[in-house]
Amino acid sequence: MTPAAISASELRTLLEQGRPLTIVDIRRPDDREWTIPGSVAVDAYDAVNAGQLGAVADLIFDSRPAVMVCGRGATARRATELLRAQGVDALTLEGGMHAWSTAWNTAHAAVGGCEVVQVRRTGKGCLSYIVASDGAAAVIDASLAPDVYDELLKARGWRLVAVVDTHIHADHLSRSGGLAQMTGAPLYLPANDRVRFGFRALNDLDRIQIGTSQLVALCTPGHTAESTTYLLDNLAAFTGDSLFIDGVGRPDLHGSKAQARANAALLHSSLGHLLQLPPSTLVFPGHVAAPIPFDNVQLSSTIETAGRMPLLRMTEAQFVSAATERMPPPPPNHERIIAANELGDWPEGAQDLEAGPNRCAVS
Ligand SMILES: [Fe+2]
Repeated sequence: MTPAAISASELRTLLEQGRPLTIVDIRRPDDREWTIPGSVAVDAYDAVNAGQLGAVADLIFDSRPAVMVCGRGATARRATELLRAQGVDALTLEGGMHAWSTAWNTAHAAVGGCEVVQVRRTGKGCLSYIVASDGAAAVIDASLAPDVYDELLKARGWRLVAVVDTHIHADHLSRSGGLAQMTGAPLYLPANDRVRFGFRALNDLDRIQIGTSQLVALCTPGHTAESTTYLLDNLAAFTGDSLFIDGVGRPDLHGSKAQARANAALLHSSLGHLLQLPPSTLVFPGHVAAPIPFDNVQLSSTIETAGRMPLLRMTEAQFVSAATERMPPPPPNHERIIAANELGDWPEGAQDLEAGPNRCAVS
């Protein structure tokens, strides 16, 4: 049998390698707002805590290792013990879904003469990017530990020349400052007076040179006042939380509730500007709503496809009503996450703030 436990990082690697596994999620249904791609949900939480396998006993286990998953690992460990006593090759995901919050995978795309690596936090659906041209690279919206990007860059022999955020994030801790500090690369942020640390300010139409390519900053306020889209060689737009594959950024996470309608009107105008880009322009968003499979398939859209979204065909008045009425509950702890991102530093354990699903979109 395999060892009785596996770390989130080890499980991530096995899934990326396509190794056969059965992943069994035994959390209560209400707690399964986000999941591991390909996992089987079994309602057995209470049974396992009572010392029984419950519905897990109905599963047919083959020779593949069975990874038991719960919120933090304790109940899964009990299930693992019960299964191993029956000879099943079971193991526990250490730290459960809490630890899985920072698991990641990648997908690659060629854009003109550039390479784009989409680095995805699979659980939260946060998308960050490495954009490389002629051996030089920029990282956009780093949401994982700086080491992850550093190793991906080193493996490809790329030199980091810029670390960039599209906006001040509300749903995850930005690792851009940490990455810039670790590597010595300059940190670029949209011009703003909220953050309390040093950065190079980007205004509308400012450019960042990456090898033989350029990122052009396009101010796209609405989701936040400083939200900026980065246009790569007129071929691809990194839209942050302004424009997603099937929705737009919510306008209410920063500022008062009363400001949400004004923010929505700004977002409507910004999206109108993005729709002026050539229809074939690729759209690389800052988030997706669902857990991301280990399939190496990039998550992107085009301006043409985005323009067919009902939300993007509305008048300003219709859009403002729709965008402010359809909002899901705010992401957990968003006010504390914003405060940490404005400060650029956070205490040990602050990662707890960001465990959980993404709720940055209106669709
Ligand atoms: Fe955001």
